[in-house]
Amino acid sequence: LPEQEGADAFSEFHDPRLVALYDRLNPPGDDANFYISLAGELGAERVIDLGCGTGIIACELARRGHDVIGVDPSREMLGVARGRDAGGLVRWVEGDASDLEDIDADLAIMSAHVAQVIHDEVAWRRTLAGLQRGLRSGGRLAFESRNPDARAWLGWVPESSYQRHDDVSDGPLDVWFELNEAAGDLVRYEIHYRFGRTGEELVSPGTLRFRSRASLTQSLGEAGFSVQDVFGDWDRSPLSATSPELIFLAVRD
Ligand SMILES: C[S@@+](CC[C@H](N)C(=O)[O-])C[C@H]1O[C@@H](n2cnc3c(N)ncnc32)[C@H](O)[C@@H]1O
Repeated sequence: LPEQEGADAFSEFHDPRLVALYDRLNPPGDDANFYISLAGELGAERVIDLGCGTGIIACELARRGHDVIGVDPSREMLGVARGRDAGGLVRWVEGDASDLEDIDADLAIMSAHVAQVIHDEVAWRRTLAGLQRGLRSGGRLAFESRNPDARAWLGWVPESSYQRHDDVSDGPLDVWFELNEAAGDLVRYEIHYRFGRTGEELVSPGTLRFRSRASLTQSLGEAGFSVQDVFGDWDRSPLSATSPELIFLAVRD
């Protein structure tokens, strides 16, 4: 499947018009609060935010006194992040987990399903290996992946996903999802954006991997991590068949 991806794959993270809309369409919520509280509770001095995107969480962590490294391969997403960091508190790195040398971080996070965006299994193993190098022994890794048993992709169809946003330039903006394929643990879908003033429609194709708890636990083990907790939701409730998320907290051996 990855081979089928065109140059426009995940254009929501690259097309400047869609990147400019990202925070509006994906406002931070309980997930951001979870990671920010966790960093505080752990007393994490140095934090890696891998796949930091537009940097909302990274900037809030830095404002609270953590030493933050925000890493993302998308120049456009990092551009928004840098613009948000007026005080220059965060170290921004345009790259991926292979750039995490000599950091000795206490905590690494991947928020908003970055782990699923990294759908290629070789890339996923490289990501965990890079995080292992970037963390000190005993450091924590926290991230979430949607619970495959909850089958979120069934809602990624126009009828249940359609949203209208007013007050957007060239708006109103209509946004909806279309599901292309769910095969094994891979889901291919498109996000459609239609700008009312011009009638223009942009499409962002995406592929996500819905790894199971067992698969994630195994890949973490192979990369030198021990799983400490798996929560089912942002209130830290235990995982059940209907939980929306698999929220992993792992310790670097
Ligand atoms: C859904 S966004 C999440 C952004 C941010 N963490 C948040 O909470 O809003 C996914 C991000 O993962 C980044 N990404 C894609 N491939 C990556 C990789 N191999 N390593 C790290 N980040 C990656 C994308 O550029 C994008 O900014």
